[in-house]
Amino acid sequence: MTEILRGNLVHTPEFGKLETIPHGYIVLEDGVVEGIFPVLPERYAACPAVDYKDCLIMQSFADLHLHAPQYPMLGMGMDLPLLDWLDTYTFQTEARFSDLDYARQVYRQLAEDLISSGTTRVAMFSSRHADATLILMEELERAGAAGYVGKVNMDRNSGAAQEAAGTSIPETLRWLEGCRFAHVKPILTPRFTPSCSDGLLEELGKLALERGLPVQSHLSESPGEISWVKELCPDCGQYWETYRKHGLWKKGTLMAHCVYSDEKEQEAMREAGVWAVHCAASNVNLCSGTAPVREMLERGVRVALGSDIAGGDQLAMNRVITASIRASKVRQMETGDPFLSVPEAYYLGTAAGHGYFDGSSGFQEGKKLHAVVVDDSTFPPAARELRLEERFERAVYLMEKQHIRAVYSEGRLAPFCRLR
Ligand code: GUN
Ligand code: FE
Repeated sequence: MTEILRGNLVHTPEFGKLETIPHGYIVLEDGVVEGIFPVLPERYAACPAVDYKDCLIMQSFADLHLHAPQYPMLGMGMDLPLLDWLDTYTFQTEARFSDLDYARQVYRQLAEDLISSGTTRVAMFSSRHADATLILMEELERAGAAGYVGKVNMDRNSGAAQEAAGTSIPETLRWLEGCRFAHVKPILTPRFTPSCSDGLLEELGKLALERGLPVQSHLSESPGEISWVKELCPDCGQYWETYRKHGLWKKGTLMAHCVYSDEKEQEAMREAGVWAVHCAASNVNLCSGTAPVREMLERGVRVALGSDIAGGDQLAMNRVITASIRASKVRQMETGDPFLSVPEAYYLGTAAGHGYFDGSSGFQEGKKLHAVVVDDSTFPPAARELRLEERFERAVYLMEKQHIRAVYSEGRLAPFCRLR
């Protein structure tokens, strides 16, 4: 079916390059972008069209690192550094997800909150629980989101959230059996080296290879964590080697944080095709530090953004984008690295993340549409007529759910939009 959307088109086909098409057209064929036009070609004149008038049609957000079972602790308990924060608050909260009714209730609300905030693709951590993870995947699918979800593996140093000895792999296999969703797929998720025994990492590396599964974890987030990894793995020179040793360091592996990744660790990422997921809000909340984002990008490391809730306090990715800009300005004051511009940070929070899944760069022919339609008419009255680039900047800083008119995910209008 051919479908036409009309509105002010805004996207970032490359890092730092903002393209705007005032009152342009996106032509979709079964949800796949067939073309982007400033003027509608005659051949489409008879096709059904949705006219979003003066609204902005922007790329939707991709959140490449967040913890679903930490949604209940959003906005709480960020007075401790990472390892104490995990022990004091996080593991207990995650342990609650053995209760499947509770999981259903929390995950339904999270999925709706995500998609109605304009996030259409995710790479998400669940808890250790196989059944609750399947519920999470089902709720994301129902809400219209796409991407990866991982049952977390953690068989040591994890308090109430820890798996009983010998159960982590069998439960992972049972979870994988249940993964039959169209748009939400499994990703192997060793929490981080301190919470996984060598034997568990080894088994997960084998599984990743045998089944061609992607991997996500945490890397070099805080000084305390890095020293602990050194103690736990004296045979590895650097943190990243603890993942490489077991076959988990490979093309497309997502590593959250990388705040303290030095030149050598960054080179190892670039060489292997491992992605850094920058989580600026979380890094400030937990006093972890400011990540070397500009340095990684200049070195050719692929970077995307993550909310990292509930270390991060904002689920809405436009807030995560502006947090990354703010953190980059602090970093500039500390190190001189140039801060991220709005189009640069927006690229990282949208196009880069979507590209991780489908190789796209911005709105692109042949790719499923992921878009958010923003009505900025109720923003504070501007002092003069604004250029589209300026309206885009204001939208990134100011948009709230109430300004989101529609969300397209995997080429389809998200279900919540039809209820309106
Ligand atoms: N490292 C290991 N687990 C976690 C987590 O839940 N949040 C963050 N920010 N870092 C982690
Ligand atoms: Fe995290």
